[in-house]
Amino acid sequence: MEIVIVPDASAAGELIAAAITDLLTDKPDALLGVATGSTPLPIYRSLAERVRDGRLDASRARICQLDEYVGLPAGHPESYRSVVLREVVEPLGLTEDSFLGPDGNAADVAAAATAYDRALAEAGGVDLQLLGIGTDGHIGFNEPCSSLASRTRIKTLTRQTRVDNARFFDSIDQVPHHVITQGIGTILEARHLVLLATGEAKAEAVALAVEGPLAAAVPASALQLHPHATVVVDEAAASRLKLADYFRDTYAAKPAWQKL
Ligand code: PGA
Repeated sequence: MEIVIVPDASAAGELIAAAITDLLTDKPDALLGVATGSTPLPIYRSLAERVRDGRLDASRARICQLDEYVGLPAGHPESYRSVVLREVVEPLGLTEDSFLGPDGNAADVAAAATAYDRALAEAGGVDLQLLGIGTDGHIGFNEPCSSLASRTRIKTLTRQTRVDNARFFDSIDQVPHHVITQGIGTILEARHLVLLATGEAKAEAVALAVEGPLAAAVPASALQLHPHATVVVDEAAASRLKLADYFRDTYAAKPAWQKL
């Protein structure tokens, strides 16, 4: 894993947007896995700015979802499909045709999850998957003790995750209990994983994931198994890392030609 410590969320957004720009320059129809939540918004803002000022041609990019609530009505503004269309697909000038996501409203949710796993593979696999991290160490909606080999499936949210996400709804009672999420095994198949964490509230989860043992109780520790995983953190999210100085030195010494 490469750990990159940046001053703040906006620097993180720029750095990751630059990596995505490089990817789309090398492979214009790359499949980009996007995450929802507040953390990745600076990345999406920077990407949209790059498209507007001509530094990025994203016209052939393909976008796919990491996870989705089960049972929100179609078109609900907080369904992750709506969020990704609003925050990523539309600002990049793309259409729904370039977008892959699971159907959280399917009559058979388990079958919809399996179908989405298959669709990702049939699309050639994810080139770069953006990830956030929950305060409980989740990635996607793989809550603690998810199998490290799990595939895309239905999961039940912990109370902590529902509390964390209540800010997007009028009350916690409206936060769904169930979700479809790419499994940890599915996530590990992406060619490059980029996890972004900002803010003090994530510091403990980041330290456990990066410096703790590989453990199903900390789903983000699964990144330790991936040959190309990058963890970008701001100073606050890095504040519990014992090896922070080593990570700073290593990144500073990285040859300019080596991409993120
Ligand atoms: P956040 O969510 O970016 O809104 O903190 C991250 C996550 O739960 O994975």
